Amino acid sequence: MKKIKHTVYFLCLFSFLFSLTNCKGDGKSDKEKEELTTTVSEIDFLTKEDYGTTADGEKVEQYTLTNEAGMEVKIITYGGRITSLKVPNKNNEFEDVVLGFDSISQYTSDHPYFGALIGRYGNRIAGGKFSLDGEDYQLPQNDGENSLHGGDKGFDKVIWTAKLPSDSTSLVLNYKSKDGEMGYPGNLDVTVTYTLNDDNSLDVAYEAETDKKTIVNLTQHAYFNLTGDFNKTILDHEVVLNADEFLPVDETLIPTGELRSVEGTPFDFTEAKKVGKEIEAENEQLELGLGYDHCWVLNDQSDDMHFAASAYDPESGRFLEVSTTEPGIQFYTGNFLDGTLPQQGGEGTYAQRSGFCLETQHYPDSPNQEKFPSVVLNPGEKYSTKTSFKFSVK
Ligand code: BGC
Repeated sequence: MKKIKHTVYFLCLFSFLFSLTNCKGDGKSDKEKEELTTTVSEIDFLTKEDYGTTADGEKVEQYTLTNEAGMEVKIITYGGRITSLKVPNKNNEFEDVVLGFDSISQYTSDHPYFGALIGRYGNRIAGGKFSLDGEDYQLPQNDGENSLHGGDKGFDKVIWTAKLPSDSTSLVLNYKSKDGEMGYPGNLDVTVTYTLNDDNSLDVAYEAETDKKTIVNLTQHAYFNLTGDFNKTILDHEVVLNADEFLPVDETLIPTGELRSVEGTPFDFTEAKKVGKEIEAENEQLELGLGYDHCWVLNDQSDDMHFAASAYDPESGRFLEVSTTEPGIQFYTGNFLDGTLPQQGGEGTYAQRSGFCLETQHYPDSPNQEKFPSVVLNPGEKYSTKTSFKFSVK
């Protein structure tokens, strides 16, 4: 990438000098000038294109980041969603490994949170209620009686402002959530930076500041399928979750408050295990989630980057490692996908368990569960978390 960057800086400088000489009349034809511009924009470490408009007439842009190895990620400003992530298999063939749609109308009309940034509060809050300093707040109840992923119009459904990156490997997205929006207190200024590194890792860094005490829990909701073939399920992926405990849930998928050992249960992913191995086992928690749809308590609870999870597809050889500064990870195995949504770039549909999410985050319903790590953000504090998705082959 550095080499490409240098070439670009050189071309930009050249272009700048060219424009200076042009003022004095350089004798270059319009066609020659056009060719120079094309040369600069053809170096597509970061490109921008129109991605249509939402039903409300809001313009959506798509940005493409490419690294030296040819890995490519596409992100739209609607929900800051990853629409495509092309990574190599063991034969160096690049394929898309995240579930997505072909057009903006599909993203705005179907809502399984494909590739989206989630906020202001990722995951569920019981009854959509919480209190701060004795004041009660009511959020939209968009998941039965609970509030899920920030309410009816969470951060996955708003337009983020793309800022010009300080270097060519990052895309910086900003969203200003108003005091009272979706029931949450405080004006929240949120910045998410996607960085594509040359070691085939994609970093997602989240920052937020508020002017009034509030709650924040941001995450990324990409559905991965490392096979590169959306007609295949993810049941043969071998997954590791770096967690000795998980959070059992009630019938509305709200944690009961217990931290339960995974030992001897289908929830034990401390060593690589095929997702499908025990997903149909007779187990009350699996029945409640229709499969895995739970938060695991990561063994490393520090704020430093720590290993959270990995997934390996033996056939393609693709290996994904997730590290994070967060204390938990929601492992969701696409149980609610039902074969009705159209596949991106194909004729088929997304069947149940054709994708899985590894959502690094604080625990669900934390505002109502005193024993869980706090999700409160005060004015003057900076919310700052980071998650990295690293791809390789083996
Ligand atoms: C949740 C699932 C939910 C899904 C929506 C996941 O984060 O854990 O319960 O159905 O998001 O796509």
